[in-house]
This record gives sequence, structure tokens and C-alpha cells, in this order.
Amino acid sequence: RPGHATVRLNTQRTVSEISPLIFGGFAEHMGRCIYEGIYDPASPLADERGFRSDVMAALKETNYRIMRYPGGNFVSGYRWTDGIGPREQRPRRRALAWRSIESNQFGPHEFMEFAQELGTEPMWAVNLGTGSIQDAADLVEYMNLPTGTLYSDLRAKNGHPDPYGVKYWCLGNEMDGPWQIGQMEAVEYADKAVQAAKLMRWMDPGIKTIACGSSATSMPGYPDWDRVVLERSYAHIDYFSMHHYAANPYPTISNTERLPIDTDSYLASSVHFEEHADTLAAAIRLAKAKNRSKRDVHLCWDEWNVWYRAKGGDGEWSETPHILEEQYNLEDALVVATWLNTFLRKADVVKIACIAQIVNVIAPIMTRTDAMYKQTIFYPLTLFSNHASGEALDVLVQAPTQDTNRHGPVPQLDVSASLEPDTGHGAVFLVNRSQTEALTVDLHWEDVAPRELAQAWQMSGADPFAANSFEQPDHVTARPIPVPTLDGAHVSISLPPLSFTTLTTRHQ
Ligand code: AHR
Repeated sequence: RPGHATVRLNTQRTVSEISPLIFGGFAEHMGRCIYEGIYDPASPLADERGFRSDVMAALKETNYRIMRYPGGNFVSGYRWTDGIGPREQRPRRRALAWRSIESNQFGPHEFMEFAQELGTEPMWAVNLGTGSIQDAADLVEYMNLPTGTLYSDLRAKNGHPDPYGVKYWCLGNEMDGPWQIGQMEAVEYADKAVQAAKLMRWMDPGIKTIACGSSATSMPGYPDWDRVVLERSYAHIDYFSMHHYAANPYPTISNTERLPIDTDSYLASSVHFEEHADTLAAAIRLAKAKNRSKRDVHLCWDEWNVWYRAKGGDGEWSETPHILEEQYNLEDALVVATWLNTFLRKADVVKIACIAQIVNVIAPIMTRTDAMYKQTIFYPLTLFSNHASGEALDVLVQAPTQDTNRHGPVPQLDVSASLEPDTGHGAVFLVNRSQTEALTVDLHWEDVAPRELAQAWQMSGADPFAANSFEQPDHVTARPIPVPTLDGAHVSISLPPLSFTTLTTRHQ
């Protein structure tokens, strides 16, 4: 029925437990993410360690549970030994991936201190580009072994006698990409990843390893790269990585031209996002069967975001090139909300996800020396991270469809929901994708009604391109709205066009 949708929730009909690690971030040595982003000793807002206290507070609000580091493309040329020891003795080098100068003033110890302050689980990527499998194992020794060996003693000498116990380890990054330092064929990569994983596990049997999937669905190798790598490495990995970026206008495959602006298609891009996850989930099942394995491998969606419009940089080798500083708008926030809905709907296969990235570089936070502001995408990310927990519910939705050029007919309403059985904290996330049509949504709890609706927030507006800035930091935010009235096990809510709404419920 035009203008009307029905959502049915049943606390017994669930997808899976939600892994808290799907609310993760990514901090790469790139542009102004680390330097001038999280670490900025020259700023009046820096603490005694050089960490930006305003940035730290905003990152804490988002409640990131895992943080990938140090890259990205950067890691494929990174020598981790450059980043340890007295700061004044650390070398400066050209970081070839991003045409910048790496000062190494922020390295493994500084990252661990940052992660501990943030209360987030570190996820380290090892260099399988220029790096050897021995370098990878040495890094595990440095980070995780009790003292008594060369690298663990060096860690103690550098001020940290206790092992850091880093659990999650990415076996390289996007090794299929022609842009990657040390690009490889799938077979070659899988074999190197397996050898690295073996050595790393012999150092510390408690670690979890993550193999690289192909870098994008537009890559010629997708999804064969994924199939080959999964089949050859299945016994040695715990997670399989996937990356997905999109934008309006869509980039062409070569990323040198732009297709025309198409907001309807863009707002439906979670359809493509979801297909990507389904394809890789099928490749995982196939690899499991071929390996006659009883173990599960899960998806680690360790790079996802809206990207591709901003390039920047003046081509000079600098420590903090202003590259990839995307400015996000309302439609981007709505797209991010639909992708987060996808994570909940795919909670059975997606167990780690990291938004790329956390500050300045394609990120929810933008800084300058004396200030920062929260971009539009900060709000859906933070609402999901703080309210989606427990079980993902398998939601039944009846909604009008709308036509799109890229994805055909798609539902006007995109929904996910969660419920924490122990605390009774529930949440429903609703995106009205239409640019013009409001929607009345009837929510029905089929088995047990919530005791009450607790809170409600909404992001909406007439202009999909409205954005925040240093001058107008709160132009587009998620604002609290009056909590709709619960009528037994039913509630009716009106969703304006171009809107994202979060409702929280209490079931106890
Ligand atoms: O997040 C930016 C870059 O995107 C990463 O360095 C790389 O892995 C991907 O291509």
C-alpha cells in the first residue's frame, strides 16, 4: 500500500547473536588520520601523550570495539621496527602507498596506548607486501610473547615488559590490487598467507587470523580470488576479509570518471552490499565443504564506507597530505544506516566490521588544529554501536517498492532490529529511502510486547546533500524526537522522506 509499511518482530525469530566486533574502526597511517587526527602534539587540544582529547572523547562516544591498524595499503611497505625505540632515533621514510613521509613518531607502543585508552580491541595487519613471513612472526613475538626472547625482551626494553596479547591479525591487505605494494595472484597470496599464519600461530597459538578477500566487487578477479584463497587457506584462518566502498556519484571501475548523480540508486546500495556478503558467505561454505572442515570461518568486513569523491593532496611528499577528506552529507548517513542494517541482517556471517576510517580520512570526524566536528555518518554509527546488541531479530517487512536504475525495485523501507535477552534492551532501526514520500510504519511485536518504548532519534531533511562543517557543526544530526505511543504490542510511527529513525525498547 503506498505510504504504508508493516514491520513484524518476534523475539523468538532471530538471525544470530550480534558480534560486538562489528562496531569497529580502522586507523591507517594515511593522510591526516594518525598525524593531526588522533595524534597531534602541536594542537592545544592534545594531552600530555600527544593524543587529541576532543577526538578521543568523540571516538569513545562511538564505542568502537575493535580497531584495525596500521593499514590498509600503507602496511604493505611498513617496517614495524621503524616505529619502536626512542622517538628521536626513529627513521623517516617515504611511505609509497600514499605518497607521504612517515615520521614513525606514532608506532606500535603508541597505538597500543591509544587502543587501551579507547577501550578497544587492537587488530593488527602484517606486511605481506614487502614483508616476509619471518617479519610477521617477529611482530607477533614482539607484541605477544612473555619476555625471554629477542623481540619480547626488546619490547620490555622499550618500556612494556608485559605482553600486549594482540588477538586479531590480518594477513596483509588487498593483495589482489594493482595499486598494492607486492600485488600477487590468488594462489601466490594464499600460500604466503598460510605460511605466515603457521609461523604466527607457532609464536602464539591464541591468535585469530584474517585472510584478504578481493578488494572490491569491481575487481576482475572477484569472486574467483575469494574462492581460491578460501579453499587454500581455510584450515589456517578464522576470518575472511571483505572491503566495500560506494558513493554518489558512483565511480566507474577505473575510478577516473564519475557516473551521473543518482540518489535513488545510491540510497538502495545496501542491495549490492548484501549481495557481496551473500556471495562471500557462499564461497566460505564451499571452501568449508571442500576442506571437509568442521570449523567455521566468518566474514571480517574490515573496510567499508562511503568514498571516492575526495582525492586531494598536491603531489608533494608531506607528513600530513590532505587526502581522501570526504565531506559527508545526509544521504551518506542514510546509506551508512542501511549498511549497518545489513550487518545486523547478516549477523550470522559478519562477525567483525571496521568503518574505514576513524578520523579525517574518509571518516566520521574531521579535525583542524583547534577544533573538530562530527560528520553526518557519525550519528548512525554511534546509534547502532550503542544500541544494537544481543540477538539480531529476523524482521518481516512489508513495504512499498521504488524503482532504481542500478538495483531495480527496492523496498522503500530498510529495517533491522536487535534484542538483548539478558537486559531486555531492544532497538529498531528504520530508513525511509524515498526522497519524496513519507511512510507510516506499523510495528507489531508478535510474541511479547515491550514494556515500554524508551527513546527515539531521527535524522532527516529535505536536502540529501546537506552536510556539517566547522562553521555549522550541528547542521545535520540525529535529534531526539517524541517517543511514539505504545498500544499493547503495536506502535505506529510516521517516517519523513530521507530519514533514519532509531527506537529503543525495554522488554523487562
Ligand atoms: O581506506 C583507504 C584504503 O582503501 C586502504 O588503505 C586500502 O586497503 C583500500 O584500498
